[in-house]
Amino acid sequence: MRESFALAMTLAAAAVSLGACRYDWVTDMWFQPAIRSEEDPRPEPEHTIPLGVVPGPADRDEAESLQNPVRADAASIKHGAAIFQDRCIGCHGREGHGGGPVGKFFPPAPDLAYATVKARSDGYIFGTITFGGRAMPPMGDGLTPHDRWDVVNEVRVIQGFVPPEGR
Ligand code: HEC
Repeated sequence: MRESFALAMTLAAAAVSLGACRYDWVTDMWFQPAIRSEEDPRPEPEHTIPLGVVPGPADRDEAESLQNPVRADAASIKHGAAIFQDRCIGCHGREGHGGGPVGKFFPPAPDLAYATVKARSDGYIFGTITFGGRAMPPMGDGLTPHDRWDVVNEVRVIQGFVPPEGR
């Protein structure tokens, strides 16, 4: 009786260690604390703000009263114009006065020098780039706030408020 019990224990132990061998070394890289590429980023703990991130406006209405912190100098306008050429001309046209090719199958985008658009605040234009408009999709993906203010400065050039060489 005692012998068979010992034998059973030995077999059980062997099974466990065999099992351990069989699975652990093959899969031990599978179960690890590293985040897998298809997983969402780890959620931020409550009441924390990631380093280097300043809470921004929640929508275009909230952005409307923001002050433009970036001076419309030559460097800002050059950068803003490059982003404008990348992201805006398909709809607003190469010069920003409307007539971009996407207007053939999308609500046509307005001339950015229209009186109504000229009357918008810098913050409102920043908010339009960030959150989109009634028909315009959000265009701020991958752009830092500084990049977006550069685009606002370029829009002010298109509207004739700022000379093309900056100020
Ligand atoms: C897919 C087409 C499309 C792209 C790309 C696009 N826009 Fe627009 N945009 C529109 C349309 C359509 C409107 C008018 C309707 C609306 O407000 O949504 C508009 C309106 C605007 C307005 C006026 C908003 C107002 O209410 O006065 C501004 C300013 C503007 N766009 C800036 C930009 C800038 C800057 C970019 C590039 C970063 C850009 N748009 C890219 C389609 C586009």
